[in-house]
Amino acid sequence: MTDLSEKMKGFVFNLDGVIVDTAKYHYRAWRRLADEMGVDFPIEQHEQLRSLSRMESLEKILEWGGLYMTEAEKLHWADVKNNWYQGLIANMSPEEVLPGVLPFLMEVRRSGGRTALSSASRNARAVLASTQLEPYFDVILDGSAARKSKPHPECFQLAAAALDLPPAECIVFDDAVLGVQAARIGGFHIVGIGNPEDLPAAELVISGFENYRLADILEAVEKLASTEHIG
Ligand code: G1P
Repeated sequence: MTDLSEKMKGFVFNLDGVIVDTAKYHYRAWRRLADEMGVDFPIEQHEQLRSLSRMESLEKILEWGGLYMTEAEKLHWADVKNNWYQGLIANMSPEEVLPGVLPFLMEVRRSGGRTALSSASRNARAVLASTQLEPYFDVILDGSAARKSKPHPECFQLAAAALDLPPAECIVFDDAVLGVQAARIGGFHIVGIGNPEDLPAAELVISGFENYRLADILEAVEKLASTEHIG
């Protein structure tokens, strides 16, 4: 069993693109909406919607297209997108959990670490239920929890408070630029999921959990933390 360091006790995970590859379904549903509205929406631009709420994401697409909508129209179209998205995730199964995630979560919990899921998505609980991941989290916070969106660190601060730990004793795992920024601003340790060149503000960037044991991550984060001040 890995001995959890005295310093790192909390593990806060983003959902879409970190635990499951639902980011591709969000893109597909937003893309369908953008197509209907005649807004060009290449996949590279989707990065800017990651971490945003449903309404903020819609507002970005409208901004890109130079379009105006009343609040009632926005609510309607946000709902339409969500129905499309829910159709895409309706048949998700535990096989869609990204490689290495489940062993990593199990190892963290076996070692006495506390786990939180913090997502901007209001569909987070449904995704966790269909992939059978709910039992692996001590705390689950979906898009209804935080009032301020990233890069404000509120979503992670709420997770740390619910875990009863200070940010400096928690590692956040996030795949989006805004999420990494939020973790830094909040004084958390941050492991980026993706490419190092896309997430320069992360302390450590890994491509996924597949080839990592808990001890590897703790060692790397602690080594970096001892050579710099975060926050
Ligand atoms: C929301 C947004 C989506 C964003 C995602 C981040 O999800 O719709 O654009 O990328 O959160 O996790 P929703 O509440 O619609 O599921």
